[in-house]
Amino acid sequence: MQDGDGRPRTPGRDVKIRKALIPAAGLGTRLLPATKVVPKELLPIVHRPALEYIADELVASGIEEVVLILHPVKESISGHFSPGGPVIHALAERGQLSRLDTLNRILGSLKFTVAYQDEPLGLGHAVWCGKDAIGNEPFAVILPDDLVRSKVPCLRQMVELYEQTPASYVAVEKVPENRVHLYGIVDGTFEAVQKPFAAKNLVEKPAPGSAPSQQAVIGRYILGPEIFGILEGLSKGSLGELQLTDALAVVAQKGGLFAYPFEGIRHDVGQPLGFVEANLIYAMDHSEMAEPLRALMRELLQNSSPK
Ligand code: UTP
Repeated sequence: MQDGDGRPRTPGRDVKIRKALIPAAGLGTRLLPATKVVPKELLPIVHRPALEYIADELVASGIEEVVLILHPVKESISGHFSPGGPVIHALAERGQLSRLDTLNRILGSLKFTVAYQDEPLGLGHAVWCGKDAIGNEPFAVILPDDLVRSKVPCLRQMVELYEQTPASYVAVEKVPENRVHLYGIVDGTFEAVQKPFAAKNLVEKPAPGSAPSQQAVIGRYILGPEIFGILEGLSKGSLGELQLTDALAVVAQKGGLFAYPFEGIRHDVGQPLGFVEANLIYAMDHSEMAEPLRALMRELLQNSSPK
């Protein structure tokens, strides 16, 4: 069965996307030594942990349940997304509980459960670790490294798309030729922003010159539960890791995967430059910081001479 633009409709799959899986069991080596003890997902973008911005996006996308995939040493992440905590008493005494309002709104809207990935065996393996918690329904995967600023939250754009035409979707953005080797790349033809196109195949980190396009998969996905069985049937890649891209390639080759060029700008906060950029850009949203920061940037630009 197909709809007007050729995307297949799968009978029986017209289900709401209620659950989102957040893989957060990686080592965060690119942000070492900051991430030696503190998980990168809890590093602040301005004054909120990066993961709170992701949680805001989930709430705005109608998600009800979150499955956090954690390494056992990253338990502080589930601590953050639990009610109470060691400072609550002191904050109450000081009349400062309102500082937790944004977090409390998240806790009031989303139910969090945790599944563990004891070793970082790849993104595909991390997703597979959420199999029991997700069960037999379509779900979203959202990578906490990728913060997206957009008019409509990126995942919501995709959920709305799914509700019109149930299928599997990956968010994509065009990357420069010299960066394709850092991403999963879609074999398919881009038409326009916000217009999904068929992904014929997916290639993980293609060598320079061999990429099928410049359309790179970023950290937003809508998947069907069949992905778990596909992951189980795969062997580990060259790095000894189970890649999500390889499982998605199987879905693509069967005609069930669509690439979605989302509206918005992505910031990769899992590496130092993207982290600093995001801090600056998100700080400009705060009226009390915007003018002093503008003044600082003007001063820095005036005083910086080419070396
Ligand atoms: P990354 O490769 O960007 O994160 O994976 P990383 O491995 O933590 O960071 P570096 O490369 O060492 O700096 C994208 C997302 O997938 C999760 C990570 O936690 C991150 O949120 N991930 C990755 C897992 O949960 N398990 C894995 O085995 C690999």
